[in-house]
Amino acid sequence: MEKKITQVFLLLHLLAEVVVSAKLTSFAQDFRVTWADAHIKQLQGGSAIQLTLDQISGCGFASKSKYLFGRISIKIKLVSGDSAGTVTAFYMNSDTENIRDELDFEFLGNRSGQPYTVQTNVYAHGKGEREQRVNLWFDPSLDYHTYTIHWSPYIVIFYVDEVPIRVFKNNVRRGVPFPSRQPMGIYSTLWDADNWATRGGLEKIDWSKAPFYAYYKDFDIEGCAVHVPLSSRVAAAMWCGANWWEGLEYRHLSASQARLYRWVRLNHLIYDYCTDKSRFPVPPPECLAGI
Ligand SMILES: *[C@@H]1O[C@H](CO)[C@@H](O)[C@H](O)[C@H]1NC(C)=O
Repeated sequence: MEKKITQVFLLLHLLAEVVVSAKLTSFAQDFRVTWADAHIKQLQGGSAIQLTLDQISGCGFASKSKYLFGRISIKIKLVSGDSAGTVTAFYMNSDTENIRDELDFEFLGNRSGQPYTVQTNVYAHGKGEREQRVNLWFDPSLDYHTYTIHWSPYIVIFYVDEVPIRVFKNNVRRGVPFPSRQPMGIYSTLWDADNWATRGGLEKIDWSKAPFYAYYKDFDIEGCAVHVPLSSRVAAAMWCGANWWEGLEYRHLSASQARLYRWVRLNHLIYDYCTDKSRFPVPPPECLAGI
């Protein structure tokens, strides 16, 4: 009896605390600065921001809420000119250390005229090492482009301007962990990573070109915001499991999306952990499950 009451209480508590959020308008409403306040400037009344990297500091921000599933889009204009050694990241993270889930976009800068690289990675239950890299088919520093993470219990899809560049399916039945139990926050940082980012660390930041700027706008969070203790994660998963981003049509790529995805893989993929025999003599199980 007591257990029942606790459960009912928990559910009521949960109903009050879980919010399906809609499109958002301003940075300040849904995000907070997490690193170097003075390096993040709000523009256009807070609907856009400018991130700065200089020799003193990079900077970063995070969502105020954590979300369990959803579609998160941000328009970003990356560091222009000589951006070698800089990394701009946009990712989701459960913030749970050794069992963390994480979905990463990392934009690796390059020398002027050389193509930016987009690295994606997926951590599930603390295990990452799933890097893929694509070169973009446009210069992402000339204009804003839309970068999207679509996360449901069935699949994770990373999009660049509606073009799928990475798919990670739920392969729990094959013993591959999938991020489906822990809410994740939304994060972004701009920092100095010239020890690894560009041509494996060979190209260093040219500080004479500093400060470096990246621009963000149109923060669009459509997700199930969860503010509950970890003990009610299962209940949260049940509550958050019936939103449009989990609909049938979002559980796999459509025929036209699949064509675009094949085009990306044929023409723009430059690294895939699945085919890196030196790291994985036996390909990880999710790699054998088809794209
Ligand atoms: C930078 O440009 C070089 C030369 O075109 C290319 O090999 C490399 O993949 C590019 N990206 C990074 C992050 O090094």
